[in-house]
Amino acid sequence: MNYIGSKHKLSNFIFETVTEICGKELSQKTFCDLFAGTGIVGRNFKPFVKQVIANDVEYYSYALNRNYIGNHISFEYDDLMNELNSLNGKKGFIFQNYSESGKAGRNYFTSENGAKIDAVRIQIEEWKKSSKITQDEYFFLLASLLESADKVANTASVYGAYLKHIKTSAAKKIIIKPANFQQTESVHKVFQQNSNELIKNIEGDILYLDPPYNARQYGANYHLLNTIAKYDTFVPRGKTGLRNYYKSDWCRTGEVLKSFEELIENAQFPYIFLSYNNEGLMSQKEVEKVMERFGKYSLKTKKYQRFKADKTENRNHKASETFEYLHILEKR
Ligand SMILES: C[S@@+](CC[C@H](N)C(=O)[O-])C[C@H]1O[C@@H](n2cnc3c(N)ncnc32)[C@H](O)[C@@H]1O
Repeated sequence: MNYIGSKHKLSNFIFETVTEICGKELSQKTFCDLFAGTGIVGRNFKPFVKQVIANDVEYYSYALNRNYIGNHISFEYDDLMNELNSLNGKKGFIFQNYSESGKAGRNYFTSENGAKIDAVRIQIEEWKKSSKITQDEYFFLLASLLESADKVANTASVYGAYLKHIKTSAAKKIIIKPANFQQTESVHKVFQQNSNELIKNIEGDILYLDPPYNARQYGANYHLLNTIAKYDTFVPRGKTGLRNYYKSDWCRTGEVLKSFEELIENAQFPYIFLSYNNEGLMSQKEVEKVMERFGKYSLKTKKYQRFKADKTENRNHKASETFEYLHILEKR
């Protein structure tokens, strides 16, 4: 999934830095990914640690992590997948409110894909209600639908707006592909809570923090993923069909530093790693100042090229240099 702030490309850098500081022997360690998003960081650690604790305040992220992290024992899914993929479309909530020919004219999906998403989502819920599937299978299918729907979404990247014309990838017929997870013997934990509340009730060895770094609220940018995942009834608002969404203090200039300080103070983990970007709401110095109050602080920096659309040069792309910081605290 193309996700704002995804650590997909930085996952080796994070893994290497963590093992450099904590040692390569992780098999007895508990690793917590407190702002898990797509779950990619926890997924990388899952085969190597005793337990992963994954958390995110958004429900779509909970559904993804409940599958990728929470699921650890394999099951047969071919028949379920085949059944879902052979369903006829239904003109349901997604078709009506978020597809090309729905009454609201919001071009997030083609009409065919919108109706197919409805049919699949309704079927998954019916299977759950009639106990044809387990909780594990339910979240596996839900994660599979979210990932597959995201692939055919007619957006530039996030769901804050849809494109006027259907783009090539969105014109393709949706195929529900399995959201495969890593099997492990050990059991993992997944939460959907505000980080600053959850941190008071958990403990472990390695705490990885990847909070939002700017004012863009995830609940607004990914509202349609929540709508597919929850499949509840509400009145979609405005041009983009927004739902009410969670507003995180980590996205507010006046609140972020306080939230950060409180989180570090309450963390019951000896090793804390924070990913943050040089364009974030908190400066590198501000982060350092908070962390060094609680133990030994160090910093790893990774430079990478980010391509930004440059409107002045006729859609040529210009590389801009961005630094990703990994702040490290060995807590006293
Ligand atoms: C930078 S993203 C994490 C990306 C993730 N590491 C990945 O690679 O996919 C930040 C995440 O923090 C979540 N978030 C924002 N405020 C939160 C809060 N107060 N508690 C828990 N999660 C929060 C957002 O929903 C978002 O998924």
